[in-house]
Amino acid sequence: MRLMVTGGAGFIGSAVVRRAIERGDDVLNVDKLTYAANPDNVAMVADNPRYRFAQEDICDFDAMSRLMNEFKPDAVMNLAAETHVDRSIDGPGAFIQTNIIGTYALLEAARGYVANGGAPKDFRFHHISTDEVYGSLGPTGEFTETSPYQPNSPYSAAKASSDMLARAWRETFDLPVIVTNCSNNYGPYQFPEKLIPVVIINALEGKDIPIYGKGDQIRDWLHVEDHAEALLLVAREGKPGETYNVGGRAERTNLDLVKTICKVLDEELKDSNHAPHEGLINFVADRPGHDQRYAINCDKIERELGWTPAHTIEEGMRDTVKWYLDNRDWWEKIRQRGFDTAKRQGLKQSA
Ligand SMILES: NC(=O)c1ccc[n+]([C@@H]2O[C@H](COP(=O)([O-])OP(=O)(O)OC[C@H]3O[C@@H](n4cnc5c(N)ncnc54)[C@H](O)[C@@H]3O)[C@@H](O)[C@H]2O)c1
Repeated sequence: MRLMVTGGAGFIGSAVVRRAIERGDDVLNVDKLTYAANPDNVAMVADNPRYRFAQEDICDFDAMSRLMNEFKPDAVMNLAAETHVDRSIDGPGAFIQTNIIGTYALLEAARGYVANGGAPKDFRFHHISTDEVYGSLGPTGEFTETSPYQPNSPYSAAKASSDMLARAWRETFDLPVIVTNCSNNYGPYQFPEKLIPVVIINALEGKDIPIYGKGDQIRDWLHVEDHAEALLLVAREGKPGETYNVGGRAERTNLDLVKTICKVLDEELKDSNHAPHEGLINFVADRPGHDQRYAINCDKIERELGWTPAHTIEEGMRDTVKWYLDNRDWWEKIRQRGFDTAKRQGLKQSA
């Protein structure tokens, strides 16, 4: 397939790009290269003749139209977004701009691409979203594809808005849109401001491991490679007009997850002065509007497309910890650009 992947220098987008190139697809990676991007994430495919890169902003309608008309994708996969909830509390503007206006520009560019006859007959626009749009669950229940949208953070509200635009372009303009909503991802190449890399790097260096509130929030975790596989399957075989939820059936409290990572570090770093690493856990003020529990019901994608995750959380988390230990250069380079893993964001309660 010819895939135009936006946000392909980020965490999940780069996993999609690497996997797509490996399985023989042609890929155009469109990325603005914000602070969260890292060209190193796709360095291993950069010289492949089936790979192209364009540094562009998805908000730029003319650039998106030009790229679609030149590259002639079979599918556009929209992963470009501002993604860090804490940053969306400190400064929602960039989230409104990229996640909403950017998705609008891409949808309009795709509409023109179809209308001018350039798109192949089975073209599809695959919009990638999150389970956070559904809001927070109580102790029981799961999000399904028909759960109501109740976003609670500026990040999830902007993603919810973009999902609504994608839906409307399908209903009103007949654009062949597919939406996927996925749970929390973990794995290699995640920017070191998100929970798992922060825990690993801080523990490794004997710094406090910050946990919001009591650490009793529950998330459903999925390995990024399982998500990438699901996305490529949906782009190829998903039915336009449908939404698919993607999840790992691996619910953990944040505290349990952090303790698991600490145990792996204890085993991997037997001579560490900082073991047992659990001793570094430090409970800090909770995030405003912090959702209590997310859980995804992914029966539909399993039943209709035959997708199942290949990684268990135990084995996947162990591999992830080892990856950060073995790829110190990757995250040291990010810190040399001035990024501080210990700096807390998202404490502002009002603008
Ligand atoms: N990380 C998760 O756990 C998770 C879970 C479910 C869904 N998602 C969704 O998956 C997508 C990718 O998430 P991620 O964690 O890989 O994000 P990320 O922050 O690691 O990467 C985002 C990428 O988008 C690029 N980008 C940002 N603004 C852009 C713009 N205006 N134009 C072009 N490129 C731009 C950045 O440069 C970066 O490379 C997002 O849409 C996110 O909402 C993420």
